[in-house]
Amino acid sequence: MMASHKRILVTGGTGLVGQGIRAVVEQDPRADEEFVFLSSKDADLTDRASTKAVFEKHQPTHVIHLAAKVGGLYGNMKANLQFFRINTAINDNVLSIAQETGVRKVVSCLSTCIFPDKTTYPIDESMIHNGPPHDSNYGYSYAKRMIDVMNKGFNQQHGTEFTAVVPTNVFGPHDNFNLEEGHVMPGLIHKVYKCKENKTPFIVWGTGSARRQFIYSKDLGRLFLWVLREYKETEPIILSVSEEDEISIKEAAEFVAKGFDFDGEFQYDRTRSDGQFKKTASNAKLRKYLPDFQFTPMEQAIRETCEWFTANYSTARI
Ligand SMILES: NC(=O)c1ccc[n+]([C@@H]2O[C@H](COP(=O)([O-])OP(=O)(O)OC[C@H]3O[C@@H](n4cnc5c(N)ncnc54)[C@H](OP(=O)(O)O)[C@@H]3O)[C@@H](O)[C@H]2O)c1
Repeated sequence: MMASHKRILVTGGTGLVGQGIRAVVEQDPRADEEFVFLSSKDADLTDRASTKAVFEKHQPTHVIHLAAKVGGLYGNMKANLQFFRINTAINDNVLSIAQETGVRKVVSCLSTCIFPDKTTYPIDESMIHNGPPHDSNYGYSYAKRMIDVMNKGFNQQHGTEFTAVVPTNVFGPHDNFNLEEGHVMPGLIHKVYKCKENKTPFIVWGTGSARRQFIYSKDLGRLFLWVLREYKETEPIILSVSEEDEISIKEAAEFVAKGFDFDGEFQYDRTRSDGQFKKTASNAKLRKYLPDFQFTPMEQAIRETCEWFTANYSTARI
């Protein structure tokens, strides 16, 4: 293999983020890059022997590490211990075996929901370890935070180039649209699809006032590839739309209704928790590197996702 040739193993390659990266790679392939997208069927990454076998089989030079036990607010609240243990095992196996098998660079995936609950806004990359995370998802959050600790340690002690990105709320094709376990945007999409079909009111969980920065999986895919190819720091980088582009859950629900041309009644179920009111993140570091990056307009990205869900309803994760 030529020294410049990259063989890139994408763990969690069948998920929402992995499929976003795959769409971008297929649209714009490069001769010196070869991608392998893994699912849990290729290897159970909680198991060390299985992880080692898949690395030995593909012999990657680079890894994009996405595989994780992921869930929305309600899924996390029910199972913090499992979120902590499973994600800690996956991350320890992937990073240590990557180092042992000579992988040059690993880009892992953190999340803005792992930041301290009590903080000042906007949050930035320097604040990850500044205090306890929100109590609803402490298991997932502490497991993710330890990736940053491991990246520092591996780079210091083994000269690797391990780093991490921090996306805000991702949505797009191939998401988990399950109403109990999924995130807010796929949940809204699934609900409106059903409301349209059954001619029932659209019931949004919570008050609709909580605010979030959403990123379309295809935009995240383009940014992930830039990090893999160009970004040299160990410290993570937040991948997000600007602070001004943060929207309320109510606005997100309205975009989804538009995406389906749904004109029925909206109701808000105030007995359901809103989760953290907001977690506004700064994309100043990203903008310093990529001042001209264009995000897909939110209305278009949501409409494309609604269209994908309608076309793939029989096979989507619901
Ligand atoms: N979704 C978001 O809003 C968001 C926001 C910030 C950060 N992130 C991060 O982005 C990454 C990808 O998330 P996603 O939303 O794409 O998740 P996802 O759609 O649920 O996909 C998870 C992926 O991980 C794989 N996986 C799960 N457990 C595994 C195991 N034990 N062994 C091997 N593979 C396993 C799944 O394989 P199967 O398909 O075979 O099940 C799937 O490919 C995660 O690290 C997550 O923390 C996500």
